[in-house]
Amino acid sequence: MLDFPIESTKNVFEVRGVSVYYKNFEALRNVSMKIPEKEITAFIGPSGCGKSTLLRCFNRLNDLIPGAKVKGQIYYHGKDLYAPQVDPVEIRQKIGMVFQKPNPFPKSIYDNIAYGARINGYKGNMDELVERSLRQAALWDEVKSKLRESGLSLSGGQQQRLCIARAIAIEPEVILMDEPCSALDPISTLKIEELMHELRSQYTIIIVTHNMQQALRVSSMTAFFNVIAGEDGKRSGYLVEYDRTEKIFSFPQENATQEYVSGKFG
Ligand SMILES: Nc1ncnc2c1ncn2[C@@H]1O[C@H](COP(=O)(O)OP(=O)(O)OP(=O)(O)O)[C@@H](O)[C@H]1O
Ligand SMILES: [Mg+2]
Repeated sequence: MLDFPIESTKNVFEVRGVSVYYKNFEALRNVSMKIPEKEITAFIGPSGCGKSTLLRCFNRLNDLIPGAKVKGQIYYHGKDLYAPQVDPVEIRQKIGMVFQKPNPFPKSIYDNIAYGARINGYKGNMDELVERSLRQAALWDEVKSKLRESGLSLSGGQQQRLCIARAIAIEPEVILMDEPCSALDPISTLKIEELMHELRSQYTIIIVTHNMQQALRVSSMTAFFNVIAGEDGKRSGYLVEYDRTEKIFSFPQENATQEYVSGKFG
C-alpha cells in the first residue's frame, strides 16, 4: 500500500486504525487510509464489508445511529474529526452526502436547493444559487421552466441530480456518495458519471459502488474491502487493498482483490 496515495496532492482525510462497532459487533476493523484532495476515491467490496459504515464516519453520520461507536482517529485537514469541540452539524455542511435512493424533500425543486442555504443564513442571491447549483448538477435545462413543481415529480435520475445539486448548494468541500446510481437506469447513471467528471476538479468525492466498471471509469483511487469471519462467527469488514484505481484493477497485490475485480468472487 502506498503511504501517500497520489504524489503532489494533499490529503483531506487521514484514517488511522479506525474500527466501528454497532453495540458489541465489530462491523469494521482497523482501517487506515488517506483520502486525496480533489480526486474521486471509490470504495468497493461485497455486501456487509462496511463501506457505508466507513463512509458515514467521514461526516459523523454514525453519531446518529444508537449504539454505533467509532474507535481510532480520523483527521480532516490534520484536525481530529472526533475531538469534543468539533460540531458535527458544521462538519456535515462541509462534507455533504448523497444516498442510494434519491431523497428529495417533498418541496418544490427551487426549495430543495434553497432550503439548506436558508438554514445556513445564506446572504447571497438565492435565485443565482439555485441556478448555479442546478447547472453544476447538469439539471438546469430540464427543470428551469418548472422550478415551483415538486422535486418528487422528477424522474429517479433527475431526483438524484437534484440531490447532488442540493448537496452542492451548501458549498461543501467533500461529497460522499453511497451507491448513487444503484436505483438508476443506465442513461441516468451515465449522466451522473459525467457529472462526477465535471465535479472532480472542485470537490473531493468518495463513492461507494458495486459497479466495477463505474469505479474504473470515475475514480483515481480505489479501496477494496472484504469480510473476515471472527471466532464468534460474526463477520467484520476490513480494508484489503488501497491504491490507484488502475493498479487495483490491473495489478492488485492481493488474490482476494484480483478475484473480486475479475468477478470470480464468492
Ligand atoms: N445501524 C446498524 N446497526 C447494526 N448493524 C449494522 C448497522 N448498519 C450496518 N450494520 C452492520 O455492519 C456491517 C457493515 O454494514 P455496511 O452497511 O457498512 O456494509 P456495506 O459494505 O455498505 O454493505 P452493502 O454493500 O450491502 O451496502 C454489516 O454486517 C451490517 O449488518
Ligand atoms: Mg452500503
